[in-house]
Order: sequence, then C-alpha cells, then structure tokens
Amino acid sequence: MIIAGGKVYTPAGLSEVDVHVNEGRIQSLEPWAEPSARPELVDARGLWVLPGAIDAHVHGRDPGFPEKEDFGSLTAAAVAGGVTTVLDMPNTLPGVAGAEILEAKRREIAPKAMADHGLWALLRSSSTAEQVRELGEAGAIGFKAYLGYTVQRSTGQVLYTPGGMDPDLEPPASYGTVARLAQELAETGVPVAAHAEDPSVLLSSTGRIETYADLLASRPAAGEAVAVAAMGALARSLGLRVHIVHLSSRMGLEAALAERAAGAPLTLETCPQYLWLTEADYARLGPVMKMYPLIKTVEDREALRAALLRGDIDSVGTDHAPHTDEEKLRHPLGEAHAGSPGVQTLLLSCLELARQAGDPLAAVPWVAEHPARIFGLYPRKGTIQPGSDADLVLVDPNQRTVVKAESMASRQRNGVLEGQEFAFAIRAVYLRGEPPAPGRGQFLRPA
Ligand code: NCD
Ligand code: ZN
Ligand code: ZN
Repeated sequence: MIIAGGKVYTPAGLSEVDVHVNEGRIQSLEPWAEPSARPELVDARGLWVLPGAIDAHVHGRDPGFPEKEDFGSLTAAAVAGGVTTVLDMPNTLPGVAGAEILEAKRREIAPKAMADHGLWALLRSSSTAEQVRELGEAGAIGFKAYLGYTVQRSTGQVLYTPGGMDPDLEPPASYGTVARLAQELAETGVPVAAHAEDPSVLLSSTGRIETYADLLASRPAAGEAVAVAAMGALARSLGLRVHIVHLSSRMGLEAALAERAAGAPLTLETCPQYLWLTEADYARLGPVMKMYPLIKTVEDREALRAALLRGDIDSVGTDHAPHTDEEKLRHPLGEAHAGSPGVQTLLLSCLELARQAGDPLAAVPWVAEHPARIFGLYPRKGTIQPGSDADLVLVDPNQRTVVKAESMASRQRNGVLEGQEFAFAIRAVYLRGEPPAPGRGQFLRPA
C-alpha cells in the first residue's frame, strides 16, 4: 500500500512524501510520485498524514462492567478518533493485581480489540514483590497506585472510596506500598503511575455533596499537590520512574515542576477536560462533568495549557471512564459516579487547542511520540519513519467536526466536550497498514 500525495508529519514539519507500507510497517518515505490509478494507492491529496494517536489512559471496563463499556466499544471509539493504541487501566474486575489476572484479561479482550493495546497493572496495599515481578514479566505497561481508592478483598473490585472500617475493604495502596516495593518496581523498567489525590486530605472533608461547589470543597487542589510532592520525593529518593496521570490543577503542576527541578524522574499527563473546561461549565453540562480529579478553576486551566504549550507537561491522555446514565445521574451529586468518556475526541481536541495557540502540529507529540517514549513503545509507535508500525491517521485540515453524542461509539455517548467544534476531521485510519477491525488489535509489551 502507498499513501500518496499527503503531507506527512515529521518532527520538523509537514513533508511532501508518499508513505510506502509493507507487511504492516512503514517501508520508506519517497518524494511525491505522479498520481496514477494504481489500486494500491490511497489518495491523500489535501490531507495530513499523522502517526496514530496513543491514549495512555483509558478505562475500557472489560472484563467486569459491560454495561459501562467493553473492549469492542472502547476500541471502536478509539479508532474512530484516530487513536490506534490504548493503554487500559487495571480497575477492571478483578483488579489487575496479578499476572494470571492480566493474562485472563488479555485473552478476554483480544477478539474484540480494534486497536493495539497495553495493560496497566494494579498496585494494592497487599501486593507482593513476587506479584510485581510476575506482572512485569507478563508485559504490564506500568503500575498504577490508586491513592484514595480501596479494593474489596472478596471480589478484587476497585472502589471509589478512600477507606472505611469494613474488614472486606483493603486500605488503598499508599506511599508506603510504593516505597516497600520500590526495588522490584524499578527492576520492571516500567513507570509507576499515581492517581494523585492524597487520601487523608480527601478524608478530611465529609458532608452531603449537592452542588459542584460542595464537590470542589471536598476534593481540593491541595490534595493533588500533596500527593504529587510525595510521589516526587519517592521517585527522587528511590530511583523510581513516576508518571503523574490526569494532572488537574496549578498547585499540582507547581509541585511536580518543583520536584522535577530537584531531580525527580517525573513525567506528566493532563487531559483534554482540564485544558478545555472549568467549574463554570457545570451549569451547562451537569453531572456528566463529575470526574476525579475534578475540573477546577480558570486559573488551573490556564496554568495547565501554558505548561503543555511550553513543554513542561509531556502528554495528553483522556482518562476515558464511561458509566451508565443511571450511575452518572444519581442524586445527590455525591452519589453520582466519577468519570466520563473521551477517547474519541483526544486527537482532534488536541489539534484544535494547539491550532488556537498558533500551531496545530505542536499537539502531535503530546499524543504520539511522548507517550510512546514514556511507555517503551517508541519507535514502533508514535512516529512515521521506516520500520515503525503503519498506524496512520488521515486528517482533513479543511473540514470541521462538531462533537455530537450520536457520533460517539462509546457506550456512554454523552461526554464533556459535547458541542465543541474542531477545525479538522478524521478521514481514514490504518492500524498496521489495514483498516481496524475487531480482533486485529494486538497486545503490546514495553520494549
Ligand atoms: C475513573 C474510573 O471511573 O475508573 N474515574 C475518574 O473519575 N477518573 C478512575 C480514575 O481514573 O481515577
Ligand atoms: Zn485516576
Ligand atoms: Zn483514570
């Protein structure tokens, strides 16, 4: 196959080359040839050819919660949005805290997968050194510590509560868990990620949550700053590579940058929702906007945007976390489930944000090269160069897209970017040189 006549993304800018693909890989980039009617030619004239996007933070809900999502609907949404690689979070059922659970999940999702996929492992407070080693050998893409979440011992289900007296509820993986297992975690070579909201800060506030202001008071930015600083200190003292996911606040960002300046090996992810929205949008969006960490103030949004544009934040993932309508709309607001879908709008929302800042192509590394490097997938993924997988997205820079629930492939159709307009459209997607289809997605191990 030859993708001919398009403008192909390279780190130096758009390049007027044809992409020659052989056996799922990029074989060569050749100067534009004369257009012809050869059947193996894909006519990409007028289009941009970008590397398939990587969403390193999705909750595919499979196995365990098919009413929210499964790997088929997850990856259908992903590829519709130009995301050809997803890294799936471990709070499925049971939580992915052992190699045999990872292997079972891998088998379960394989026939449904339309996108290539890596799997996150779960750190529990009861995790052992052996489990960490075995998960590393099984190909876990990273280890996730859900600070502030518990695990139900009897089922292995991750719960959205920071603790309790019930003996069936295991205390959350803590800073101490990370310290205790630091050596084995470091030896796996993959990053440790933290849901960075300090459990004791969260527990300090109780009371009925009716309004978005109540919610904000119950989960302040200080909780993020405390957790980020603690994870940074651990990374620095224990020689651990730590990835902070879904950074949502200026205070959290400042804590991360201070730790990094002091030498901590930290990488940082934020999400489109924290770059596009603020608390003021609650009046328009309602409880669909409830997610942890919370969408915060305009100052937080501006600080995150500026940090991303100047290169202080490495990557953008979506924290795609669908729930059923009934779960999202529970009353009072404190009872509604936290999380919303987003994988389908990752690439276009990032291109649009970067376009508004002056250069749309500045967004490509946020969703391609940088996550590929963080997770040991580069240069197989995240770049268009000879030898890389032919994961390619054809983007039309002259056609607009408006986000509409009815066009979403995720089971929860209504996301927080509903109604937003992007100055781009996705015209075609290739996964290793072919159109994505169920069962074509492959399991990815970090190199
Ligand atoms: C996520 C989920 O529903 O799994 N929810 C959320 O609000 N972000 C969990 C998480 O990422 O913390
Ligand atoms: Zn989280
Ligand atoms: Zn998440």
